[in-house]
Amino acid sequence: MTAASLEPIETASRDELAALQLERLCSALTRAYERVPFYREAFDRAGAHPRDVRELGDLARFPFLEKRHFREQYPFGLFAVPREQTVRLHASSGTTGKPTIVGYTQGDIDTWSNLMARSIRAAGGAPGDIVHVSYGYGLFTGGLGAHYGAERLGCTVIPMSGGQTEKQVQLITDLRPRIIMVTPSYMLAIAEEMARQGLDPRSCSLEIGIFGAEPWSDQMRAQIESMLDIDAVDIYGLSEIMGPGVAVECLETKDGLTLWEDHFYPEIIDPETGAVLPEGSFGELVLTTLTKEALPAIRYRTRDLTRLLPGTARTMRRLQRITGRSDDMLIVRGVNVFPSQIEELIVRDARLAPHYQIHLTRSGALDEVALHVETRAGVGESDYADCARSLAAAIKSYAGVTMQVEVVGPGLIPRSQGKAVRVVDQRKRA
Ligand code: DLL
Repeated sequence: MTAASLEPIETASRDELAALQLERLCSALTRAYERVPFYREAFDRAGAHPRDVRELGDLARFPFLEKRHFREQYPFGLFAVPREQTVRLHASSGTTGKPTIVGYTQGDIDTWSNLMARSIRAAGGAPGDIVHVSYGYGLFTGGLGAHYGAERLGCTVIPMSGGQTEKQVQLITDLRPRIIMVTPSYMLAIAEEMARQGLDPRSCSLEIGIFGAEPWSDQMRAQIESMLDIDAVDIYGLSEIMGPGVAVECLETKDGLTLWEDHFYPEIIDPETGAVLPEGSFGELVLTTLTKEALPAIRYRTRDLTRLLPGTARTMRRLQRITGRSDDMLIVRGVNVFPSQIEELIVRDARLAPHYQIHLTRSGALDEVALHVETRAGVGESDYADCARSLAAAIKSYAGVTMQVEVVGPGLIPRSQGKAVRVVDQRKRA
């Protein structure tokens, strides 16, 4: 991609970017304070006033916004505009209780479409491309977010949504999209269906996959790239901040996700103490929206764990691939383990398919952790015990935990049509 095709802000100097961020931060804080009683009370309680902000670091004096605040203010209590000025609502699926409702003005939808167009272009897309969208359409932000961005870039969109896997394959075969936007786990299910229909996934028309909405590993990237002969890039976002398109990997580097810092200001905190950590530290990502109108998010605790890295393909900083959320972390007899660490080990064994689930059960006072993983076609049942033994040994030596491994035949682990369910917690029902 030539520098000429980028927006000027994508190549702005760090100083120019910081000046823009400070100006936008001050108006975002003022807007939140003046228009949303929740923020006014919280800022007053913390003794932090928008007019006292002189530099970006002053943001650390303001209180955090958390998921529970969305529930407490359900449905529209955090809006900074009258509900009549919102043109769209989305909701993020909570596992329990009320969903989180988010709202957008027409201006917000425009910003989001532009940022998604910028993201698709950074991932290698160009006007005229056919884009197949298999993220779910509806309350989830994935489908419509991808859709508006691809249209804004000047692409032809196939609004397929999730599910109907056979039809996904038919449309990919007949309409020949260059780009697919889907969760990495559902991409695997679509590739499997191609193979089931006797098609070679490597000879399909796809050249680029823009994958996100769930954690995935570099090993999984390598596997998807070779399975489909495509470039696989990572895209990140969350409903409370906007939806997909907060950060994306650039095709030319594929080295972590460039965060669109002209619209989102990042901090990394210690999830235990809430203290802001020095640049480059690993911790919880906290995001502040700089331009959102309907729903300004000031210091939103994402629970996503990552670190900030200096820019490479752009001057804006990068997020290291998000390996998991603090609330997805399993603590197995005192050792912290993320499903993505287990995934890396599974993908290393050529006999195993990248389909797995971690089951948590309780027997008496003790938590039991069992990993269910599938073999690839052609692996004989006589090999299952050896697969299980060597995977359990790898988990023990790399992740430091003892996990019971159960190997099952191809197709026996449930497939996702959107976000994969990696952890099945059966303790709650006990
Ligand atoms: O998942 C938005 C999205 C749609 C992103 C399509 C990318 C593509 P939520 O449903 O609100 O929004 O879930 C947000 O998903 O806090 C992360 O925990 C996780 N997540 C999203 N993208 C990634 C990624 C959408 N690339 C939550 N890597 C976030 C790891 C991701 N986790």
